[in-house]
Amino acid sequence: MDTSRSSKAEIVSLIQDEEKSLDDEVQQLEQSLPKEEGWTSGSAKSLYLYQGFWCLARDLKSVISLQKHFQAFDSDVLVATSPKCGTTWLKALTFSTLCRTQYARDEHPLLNSTPHQLVRFLEFDVYLNNPFPDLENICVYKPRMFATHIPYASLPTSIKDSKCKIVYICRNPMDMLISLWNFMGKFRDQIQDPPMSLDEAFDKFYRGIYLSGPFSEHVLGYWKASQENPDKILFLKYEDLKEDISCQLKKLAMFLGVPFTEDEEKQGVVEEIAKICSFQELKEVQVNKKGLSRFGTPHKDFFRKGQVGDWSNYLTPSMVERLEKLIHEKLDCSVICIRLLSLSSKNNSFF
Ligand code: A3P
Repeated sequence: MDTSRSSKAEIVSLIQDEEKSLDDEVQQLEQSLPKEEGWTSGSAKSLYLYQGFWCLARDLKSVISLQKHFQAFDSDVLVATSPKCGTTWLKALTFSTLCRTQYARDEHPLLNSTPHQLVRFLEFDVYLNNPFPDLENICVYKPRMFATHIPYASLPTSIKDSKCKIVYICRNPMDMLISLWNFMGKFRDQIQDPPMSLDEAFDKFYRGIYLSGPFSEHVLGYWKASQENPDKILFLKYEDLKEDISCQLKKLAMFLGVPFTEDEEKQGVVEEIAKICSFQELKEVQVNKKGLSRFGTPHKDFFRKGQVGDWSNYLTPSMVERLEKLIHEKLDCSVICIRLLSLSSKNNSFF
């Protein structure tokens, strides 16, 4: 008997059975979960409230699949974010920091691959249409690095129970909203939907209805976990990275267990990483200018302005007031200290 053939057949049948059971589960969920119109039209773009966060119909299957099957290694690193909070940047920084000895200095992988190809999303990429991905072959560089927008509470148990490290980045929600509105607007153009007004986008964002929302719950989940387990979860802020990237990079390297040596600092390795991962540099790399990601997004759309405070060019005073009030109510701001540029005070303020 050809055992390799029979084991292959067994594997195929196992995958088919799992696919079928996942399809059934998702079908049932789609009938029972709260549902809202997404940011683009079409039923596949509807959002479902799954385990307290909004999830695209397309992604329900992969989220459930990875929750069931993903086995974290202690050495794994997870980049966790809400959309438009600096995921692309943090992927580039994490990869460059962790793998800096694995390639020649003038042959940086970011010159030929996008940050999303080097640190792949679990739910939109690795587990998309594949309940049993070949993780060893997917992860060319070691340690294994993945990314997710899933809130802390819904991460696979093995991620929470293992010693794998999580790096989280949050951003001023007003900048995040404007970034999200511009980003989703591009999808609407592609499929010839009329543009979504800022009022409509604000209303959805305010109610937490966007991929992985609501904002406060996402931030709080990772914030609390980082306070309880600071060796496991590093909580970063986009605004801090913009203000002093070298300092934040050193913090990141220390947390990941690969601190920069004195020699490296003297040789300017920190500044080199900061430079190659900077908005200006990454935006100009050819691979980031053309083509689509595996989850269908043009690479170039991940680079817009890369600024702090762009919200002040768009949001009305009443929108700012409402959002500030919501965030004040939901977050214990004395501990999280998200930096907001308030229209009323016109300066950087912590609240
Ligand atoms: P803006 O739309 O405000 O410009 P994400 O990567 O989570 O999708 O977030 C995208 C946001 O991060 C966009 O913000 C994008 O321009 C910005 N961004 C992308 N790469 C960056 C980088 N290297 N440095 C700073 N910001 C970056």
